[in-house]
Amino acid sequence: MTIKNTSYYGIYDAWGKMATLNLDPGAKIHGEQLVREDGKEYRVWDPRRSKLGAAVMKDLQTWPFEKGTRVLYLGAAAGVTPSFISDIVGEEGRVYAVEFSPECIKELVLRCENRKNIWPILADARLPQKYDYVGEVDVLFEDVAQPDQDRILVINARYLKKGGIAMIAVKSQSIDVTLKPHEVYKKVIEGLSDTFEILEKIELDPYEKHHLFIVCRKK
Ligand SMILES: C[S@@+](CC[C@H](N)C(=O)[O-])C[C@H]1O[C@@H](n2cnc3c(N)ncnc32)[C@H](O)[C@@H]1O
Repeated sequence: MTIKNTSYYGIYDAWGKMATLNLDPGAKIHGEQLVREDGKEYRVWDPRRSKLGAAVMKDLQTWPFEKGTRVLYLGAAAGVTPSFISDIVGEEGRVYAVEFSPECIKELVLRCENRKNIWPILADARLPQKYDYVGEVDVLFEDVAQPDQDRILVINARYLKKGGIAMIAVKSQSIDVTLKPHEVYKKVIEGLSDTFEILEKIELDPYEKHHLFIVCRKK
């Protein structure tokens, strides 16, 4: 056996590379490598293409994903990271993938059409009332690269269960290029603190420059 479990549910070690069990065998989302063993197919997860993957490589301690987890994902783009979460949470789980670019969501729909656990939502994450049918979720994830990204997380916390985990990839240069990254991060953390308890702060370099990955728990 050369593909092994890791301490992160749903992530495998495929000869030193991260991989997930492909929920849509034979299909790739972004040209990633597919590897097979014992009749199972895995997708290699490149941490340079995914901030969640980068956080895992940087020793992320909080892993809220398991079979059946319901995730609200803000800033889904064409579905790269949502597809890996889709593999991890499996058919019983759900990934509500919010994206406001019609071009991106079209691409996501095409790439993920066989992934029945991904629900594409064409909407602005600043207007969460537009997708209130998502109901309560276990995990809230945000990667939108916007100046008001802390506020966007806070207003979407209405869907996160009490004690649920939120994860946000903060891009300092999307918020204020005149401030040093650590000053931007401090402001974001202040903006989150009324709603969330901060659990982890992980700088994503060398995978992503000027990005802080924040993990928090809804109060
Ligand atoms: C950095 S990309 C996300 C990459 C994606 N999370 C991944 O790892 O595969 C940021 C995305 O957020 C989207 N976005 C930005 N602001 C948004 C908003 N207010 N509502 C919904 N989507 C937004 C952008 O259109 C873009 O596709």
